Amino acid sequence: MFKKVFVTGGAGFIGSHLVDALLAKGAAVVVYDNFCTGHAEFLPAHSPKLQVVRGDVLDLAALKAACAGCDFIFHFQANADVRGGKENTRVDLEQNTIATWNALEAARVNGVKGFAFASSSAIYGEPDVFPTPENFAPQQTSLYGASKYAGEAMIQAYGEYFGMRSFCYRFVSWIGERYTHGIVFDILKKLQRDPHTLPLLGDGTQKKSYLYVKDGVSGVMRGIEQAADRKNVFNLGHDYFITVIEVVKIVLDELGKQEVKLEFAGGTRGWVGDSPLVHLDTSKIKGLGWKPETSIEEGLRRTVRYLKQNPHLLKRA
Ligand SMILES: NC(=O)c1ccc[n+]([C@@H]2O[C@H](COP(=O)([O-])OP(=O)(O)OC[C@H]3O[C@@H](n4cnc5c(N)ncnc54)[C@H](O)[C@@H]3O)[C@@H](O)[C@H]2O)c1
Repeated sequence: MFKKVFVTGGAGFIGSHLVDALLAKGAAVVVYDNFCTGHAEFLPAHSPKLQVVRGDVLDLAALKAACAGCDFIFHFQANADVRGGKENTRVDLEQNTIATWNALEAARVNGVKGFAFASSSAIYGEPDVFPTPENFAPQQTSLYGASKYAGEAMIQAYGEYFGMRSFCYRFVSWIGERYTHGIVFDILKKLQRDPHTLPLLGDGTQKKSYLYVKDGVSGVMRGIEQAADRKNVFNLGHDYFITVIEVVKIVLDELGKQEVKLEFAGGTRGWVGDSPLVHLDTSKIKGLGWKPETSIEEGLRRTVRYLKQNPHLLKRA
């Protein structure tokens, strides 16, 4: 169903797995990435169907030109750091909201007929319904979440104006191979600095759902291939959640470490805008025949193993 697809952020953790899946389906793929957090090594070195364009999504002219001839856009570029908005109040607006508008403009001028967007559970803020369904009316608690929600809104409006099909996916935290940021990354970095003491954000009781990256990509594909509507919003996550303390125990166990002292900063949130419980209702995407195959524990273990095998990734950031 894809002839030539355009993937912004295609050299990133999630984007590069998406590129693998698209190439496996026989699509021609154009990756557009400035490699600020992405890695060339995440992309196949020699694939006749893959074109890699080094460019910034904020460079609208270059973006439009690179997208010429593509029939579908996966807009997966973003500032994926959910915590930084309080220190830098502009970054989410620029890298997420304006960047999404730029991707929509590239779609419009090139007559692109489908647009998939990497949104986030952060758009729900601190919901009071669990598992949280797609039709929950959110109150924003972070600039990252707000910037993604604004992106979703523009995607729906562009769909209305220009007849484009749209797919907004609200992800929980992803884990797995090529992981370069998030709780497992932070734990390993901290243990490199001090192997005996592990400082942790919050009180350790924060509860989150996680999704193994290959399961997530199959969910993205399932939505596009099976959904009947023109405008689509899907939650993507696991059916259950675990606490930060449980994540730490799995990571330490996989590392073979027992004697580590945990030090909690305290409070029920990791940072301002962090939700103490993330658990999404995924019955909508499951109704299309998708389900995660990999448990959270196994996904976390694979993440640790991958980072142990690729220690150079921990040197960055
Ligand atoms: N990782 C998660 O758990 C998670 C959860 C919810 C939503 N998301 C969303 O999924 C998408 C992918 O996240 P990820 O974890 O793979 O992050 P990532 O940082 O690994 O990937 C982002 C990619 O975008 C590129 N990029 C960033 N800014 C750019 C710019 N201005 N121009 C061109 N390229 C640029 C980076 O180099 C990188 O390759 C993002 O939109 C993120 O907000 C991720």
